[in-house]
Amino acid sequence: MAEKFAEIILDGVSYKLPIVEGSEGEKAIDIAKLRDMSGYITLDTGYKNTGATKSAITFLDGEQGILRYRGYSIEDLAEKSTFLEVAYLIIYGELPTKPELESFNHQIKIHTMINEDMRKIYDGFPVKGHPMGVMAAMASALATFYPELIDDPKKQKAELDLKIVRLLGKMPTMAAWAYKNSMGHPVNYPQNRFNYVENFLHMMFALPVEEYVLDPDVVDALEKLLILHADHEQNCSASTVRLVGSSQVSIYSAISAGISSLWGPLHGGANQEVLEMLEEIQKDGGNVDKYVAKAKDKNDNFRLMGFGHRVYKNFDPRAKIIKEACDKVLNKLGVHDPILEIAKKLEERALADDYFVEKKLYPNVDFYSGIIYKAIGIPTDMFTVMFALGRLPGWIAQWKEMRENNEPIGRPRQVYVGATKRDFVPIGAR
Ligand code: CMC
Repeated sequence: MAEKFAEIILDGVSYKLPIVEGSEGEKAIDIAKLRDMSGYITLDTGYKNTGATKSAITFLDGEQGILRYRGYSIEDLAEKSTFLEVAYLIIYGELPTKPELESFNHQIKIHTMINEDMRKIYDGFPVKGHPMGVMAAMASALATFYPELIDDPKKQKAELDLKIVRLLGKMPTMAAWAYKNSMGHPVNYPQNRFNYVENFLHMMFALPVEEYVLDPDVVDALEKLLILHADHEQNCSASTVRLVGSSQVSIYSAISAGISSLWGPLHGGANQEVLEMLEEIQKDGGNVDKYVAKAKDKNDNFRLMGFGHRVYKNFDPRAKIIKEACDKVLNKLGVHDPILEIAKKLEERALADDYFVEKKLYPNVDFYSGIIYKAIGIPTDMFTVMFALGRLPGWIAQWKEMRENNEPIGRPRQVYVGATKRDFVPIGAR
């Protein structure tokens, strides 16, 4: 096939830049050599139109509302697979065979315990400290408990596999313990008779005086939610993991940076903000129109949390699945949550409003997830932690791909707009 080029004319000189085409027909202009050739860089604040890498993990078409992990549709995976199957798929590129899944599951189970010295770190956090801060600190602490040891390239694969199961095994324990700590309760140790999701629920909710009774519908809903969050290509936290990891720091430190990035209200932190917003609307008398008007008002900083997305400009396919799951869980648990009614009314009003239609703002993954978490009994400030648990395989896969492709250290350029050279005038401070 003949190589395709883009032609760019700068100061009257023409430069040819290679065109790169992805397996789903996405097209990009490779500008890597542009500066060397012409002295120009490209400027794209917020990376709205910049491909940072070629990736084979997740395909997303924001216009058509398509999301696929390694070629498999999110709808199929959410309905038919388990979170660990999806984690294996995302990380290793293919669905596991039965024996592969059993071995993966076993390896994860034998790494769910946390070093008792790490448990002591929890005592140092303020009881009301946000669990995302705790999670970022604990993930970072893993780098001190498990420093990089292996220089022998032949052992690197085994070492990486160990890090992967260690992260997947310990993150739910770290998360549940953050919650238990905030409650002043003794922590629950993991139990290997449970599957991944059941074990997390057990560690969250079992009490010394009372065993937690698992509801299969709750387990199923949580399994779905984790699957739906498992990866989302080059979003803010995945890009953070790749960028931080590109300095070749420990994977644990890169994951810790991903957790911090996810915490922000414009990213994963939105699920907590959604519920707080719905509760505020309820307290304020349930006047949905007032909040739609506030979101449209340019002089008001308020945004409808859980609405809008950088890449989805039609609908977020994850939101559709979550909305159905939400109805199912609430019906099953017999929960009649007025918050759900407010959410539905808000969605209805916004979708019929020109402002939201013109700006292509639709409910995103975070809009309904919080209502499910609330029904299950997960407290609001743990919502983003749930997102992190789901996103972990994605972060691992993004980090692994970046390292396996030998990507260089990430180092964007800038257009300097500050003061030009000036002389220092001493004020006698030294
Ligand atoms: N409510 C009201 N107006 C909005 C909203 C909203 N939720 N989202 C975007 N807009 C407006 C915004 O004011 C801007 O208007 P204008 O062009 O007149 O200045 C226009 O829409 C484009 O917004 P933007 O911020 O430039 O778009 P973006 O692609 O940079 O941001 C977003 C995407 C998700 C950060 C944004 O839609 C938002 O802040 N949403 C609320 C927070 C949220 O729900 N975040 C979770 C995202 S999904 C989970 C994840 O993957 O992280």
